Amino acid sequence: MKFQTISTQPFSDQKPGTSGLRKRVKVFQHPHYLENFVQSIFDTLEIPANATLTLGGDGRYYNRVAIQTIIKIAAANGFAKVMVGQGGILSTPAASHVIRKYQTFGGIILSASHNPGGPDNDFGIKYNTTNGGPAPEKITEAIFAKSKTIAQYRLADIPDMDIDTLGTQKVNGFTVEVIDPVADYADLMESLFDFDAIRALFKTGFRMKFDAMHAVTGPYAKEVFLNRLGADASSVMNCEASEDFGGGHPDPNLTYAHDLVEIMYGDDAPDFGAASDGDGDRNMILGKHFFVTPSDSLALIAANARIVKGYSGGIAGVARSMPTSAAVDKVAQSLDIPCYETPTGWKFFGNLMDAGKVTLCGEESFGTGSSHVREKDGLWAVLLWLNILAIKRQSVEQIVMRHWLQFGRNVYSRHDYEDIPTDEANAVIQHLRDSMPGLVGKTFGQYKVATCDDFSYTDPIDGSVSTKQGLRVLFEDGSRIVYRLSGTGTEGATLRIYLEAFEPDSAKHGLDAQVLLQEMIQIALQLSQLKEKTGREKPTVIT
Ligand code: G1P
Ligand code: ZN
Repeated sequence: MKFQTISTQPFSDQKPGTSGLRKRVKVFQHPHYLENFVQSIFDTLEIPANATLTLGGDGRYYNRVAIQTIIKIAAANGFAKVMVGQGGILSTPAASHVIRKYQTFGGIILSASHNPGGPDNDFGIKYNTTNGGPAPEKITEAIFAKSKTIAQYRLADIPDMDIDTLGTQKVNGFTVEVIDPVADYADLMESLFDFDAIRALFKTGFRMKFDAMHAVTGPYAKEVFLNRLGADASSVMNCEASEDFGGGHPDPNLTYAHDLVEIMYGDDAPDFGAASDGDGDRNMILGKHFFVTPSDSLALIAANARIVKGYSGGIAGVARSMPTSAAVDKVAQSLDIPCYETPTGWKFFGNLMDAGKVTLCGEESFGTGSSHVREKDGLWAVLLWLNILAIKRQSVEQIVMRHWLQFGRNVYSRHDYEDIPTDEANAVIQHLRDSMPGLVGKTFGQYKVATCDDFSYTDPIDGSVSTKQGLRVLFEDGSRIVYRLSGTGTEGATLRIYLEAFEPDSAKHGLDAQVLLQEMIQIALQLSQLKEKTGREKPTVIT
């Protein structure tokens, strides 16, 4: 393959965050910026002969430009073939599946997940390894190290490729195969869930509303819900993907998925509502006038997995990120299966799934998934819920209330303070770090502090240690407050406060989480001195 070697200079800011490198589009548009990072990835890998790379993204602004560039750099770095989703599209879970199914030498996924898109918003890139999952820290750190010393990159002498026509093109011995981004993924879903049962549920007049938020899941949702499951066309909304997600913020939560929330809390609400994010890995689950927290959703899925075709043999174990509520721990205990607590970010689940130790994983941040791929998977979660509903024939609210009756309720909420000046956010964290040792044994209202720590995790499979993963104040009754700075933002700092209080009393289960957590919220503010140090009166987003 003929290629040019282009001289470049390093950028100092290419440290991958919680899920890859995320920056403003304008930053990615700096000459050599994308190229440097992609070359740094390839310099870190030992690319075998005849290797194939999976490539696709969530379709946001700059996706198509980046795809052409990456194809040329891949060709110049020894890849024999690139498999790219038609139009440059692959949802994150679909990309993970393609890597696994075709055993490609990993893949590059272009997405800034739920962050807004468009010329003034965000773009992102990450490398997933051959298991289909996000590269572990060892690799992302090595990529960062390379990016700091890079002096040149390689660009193949090939024209822009046609990424819109399905099929195979060859140029100078290098192959680009454009694949249907939906078909393999839809087949996988059909293998896991009882589509007949779900079809029968729709035939009873059961109504659902899925909101694709103008993002990547639009075509996937149409194929799965409408074509394969026979749902009525009104069951999906915002399925026309656009480069700026219709100008919206494609994050499926109560704040940003407001169109759907209005419908689900309206007079003529359907039975089931769901939404997914920019790249299709997140999910929000709603019933009629009812919100299911992601932590509860994970617990419920674990408790009911056995009734679902793909999991009828039982689940090996579960894992949740540290800030996710302990609701699933209780289910694991009752099933007598292990439950792992990992740092925030899907990459920490990969080793556990590869080793067969866990089947289901979840994060409080609207991420749920299983070992069918190595990413969280929004539509998978929606289908799993549909499958449970199809078998139980109870409402979403009934299912959740019965679950709480059995296990108690881990009342949960996350308060995000977005776009805080970095020094102010650091001051809050520093203050907490300094004061934590003195908190142990102190009582705040009805809560007594049992321990405080900065969460650190030792991977049980490879022994790698991740420190400083969030400050925890743990109370004697199992309630807790966790503070963490976001690792996915591109502007200022986002401080996340995670609040959890265990409520065994079923008489209180019907109450709103914010009401039940009132005292906890005050304690969290008092301990952090957030108002004093940042001047913020209230959170930007409450989930
Ligand atoms: C956020 C979520 C985290 C998730 C990540 C990628 O990261 O909190 O659970 O894995 O997005 O979707 P954060 O911004 O908190 O670092
Ligand atoms: Zn996402």
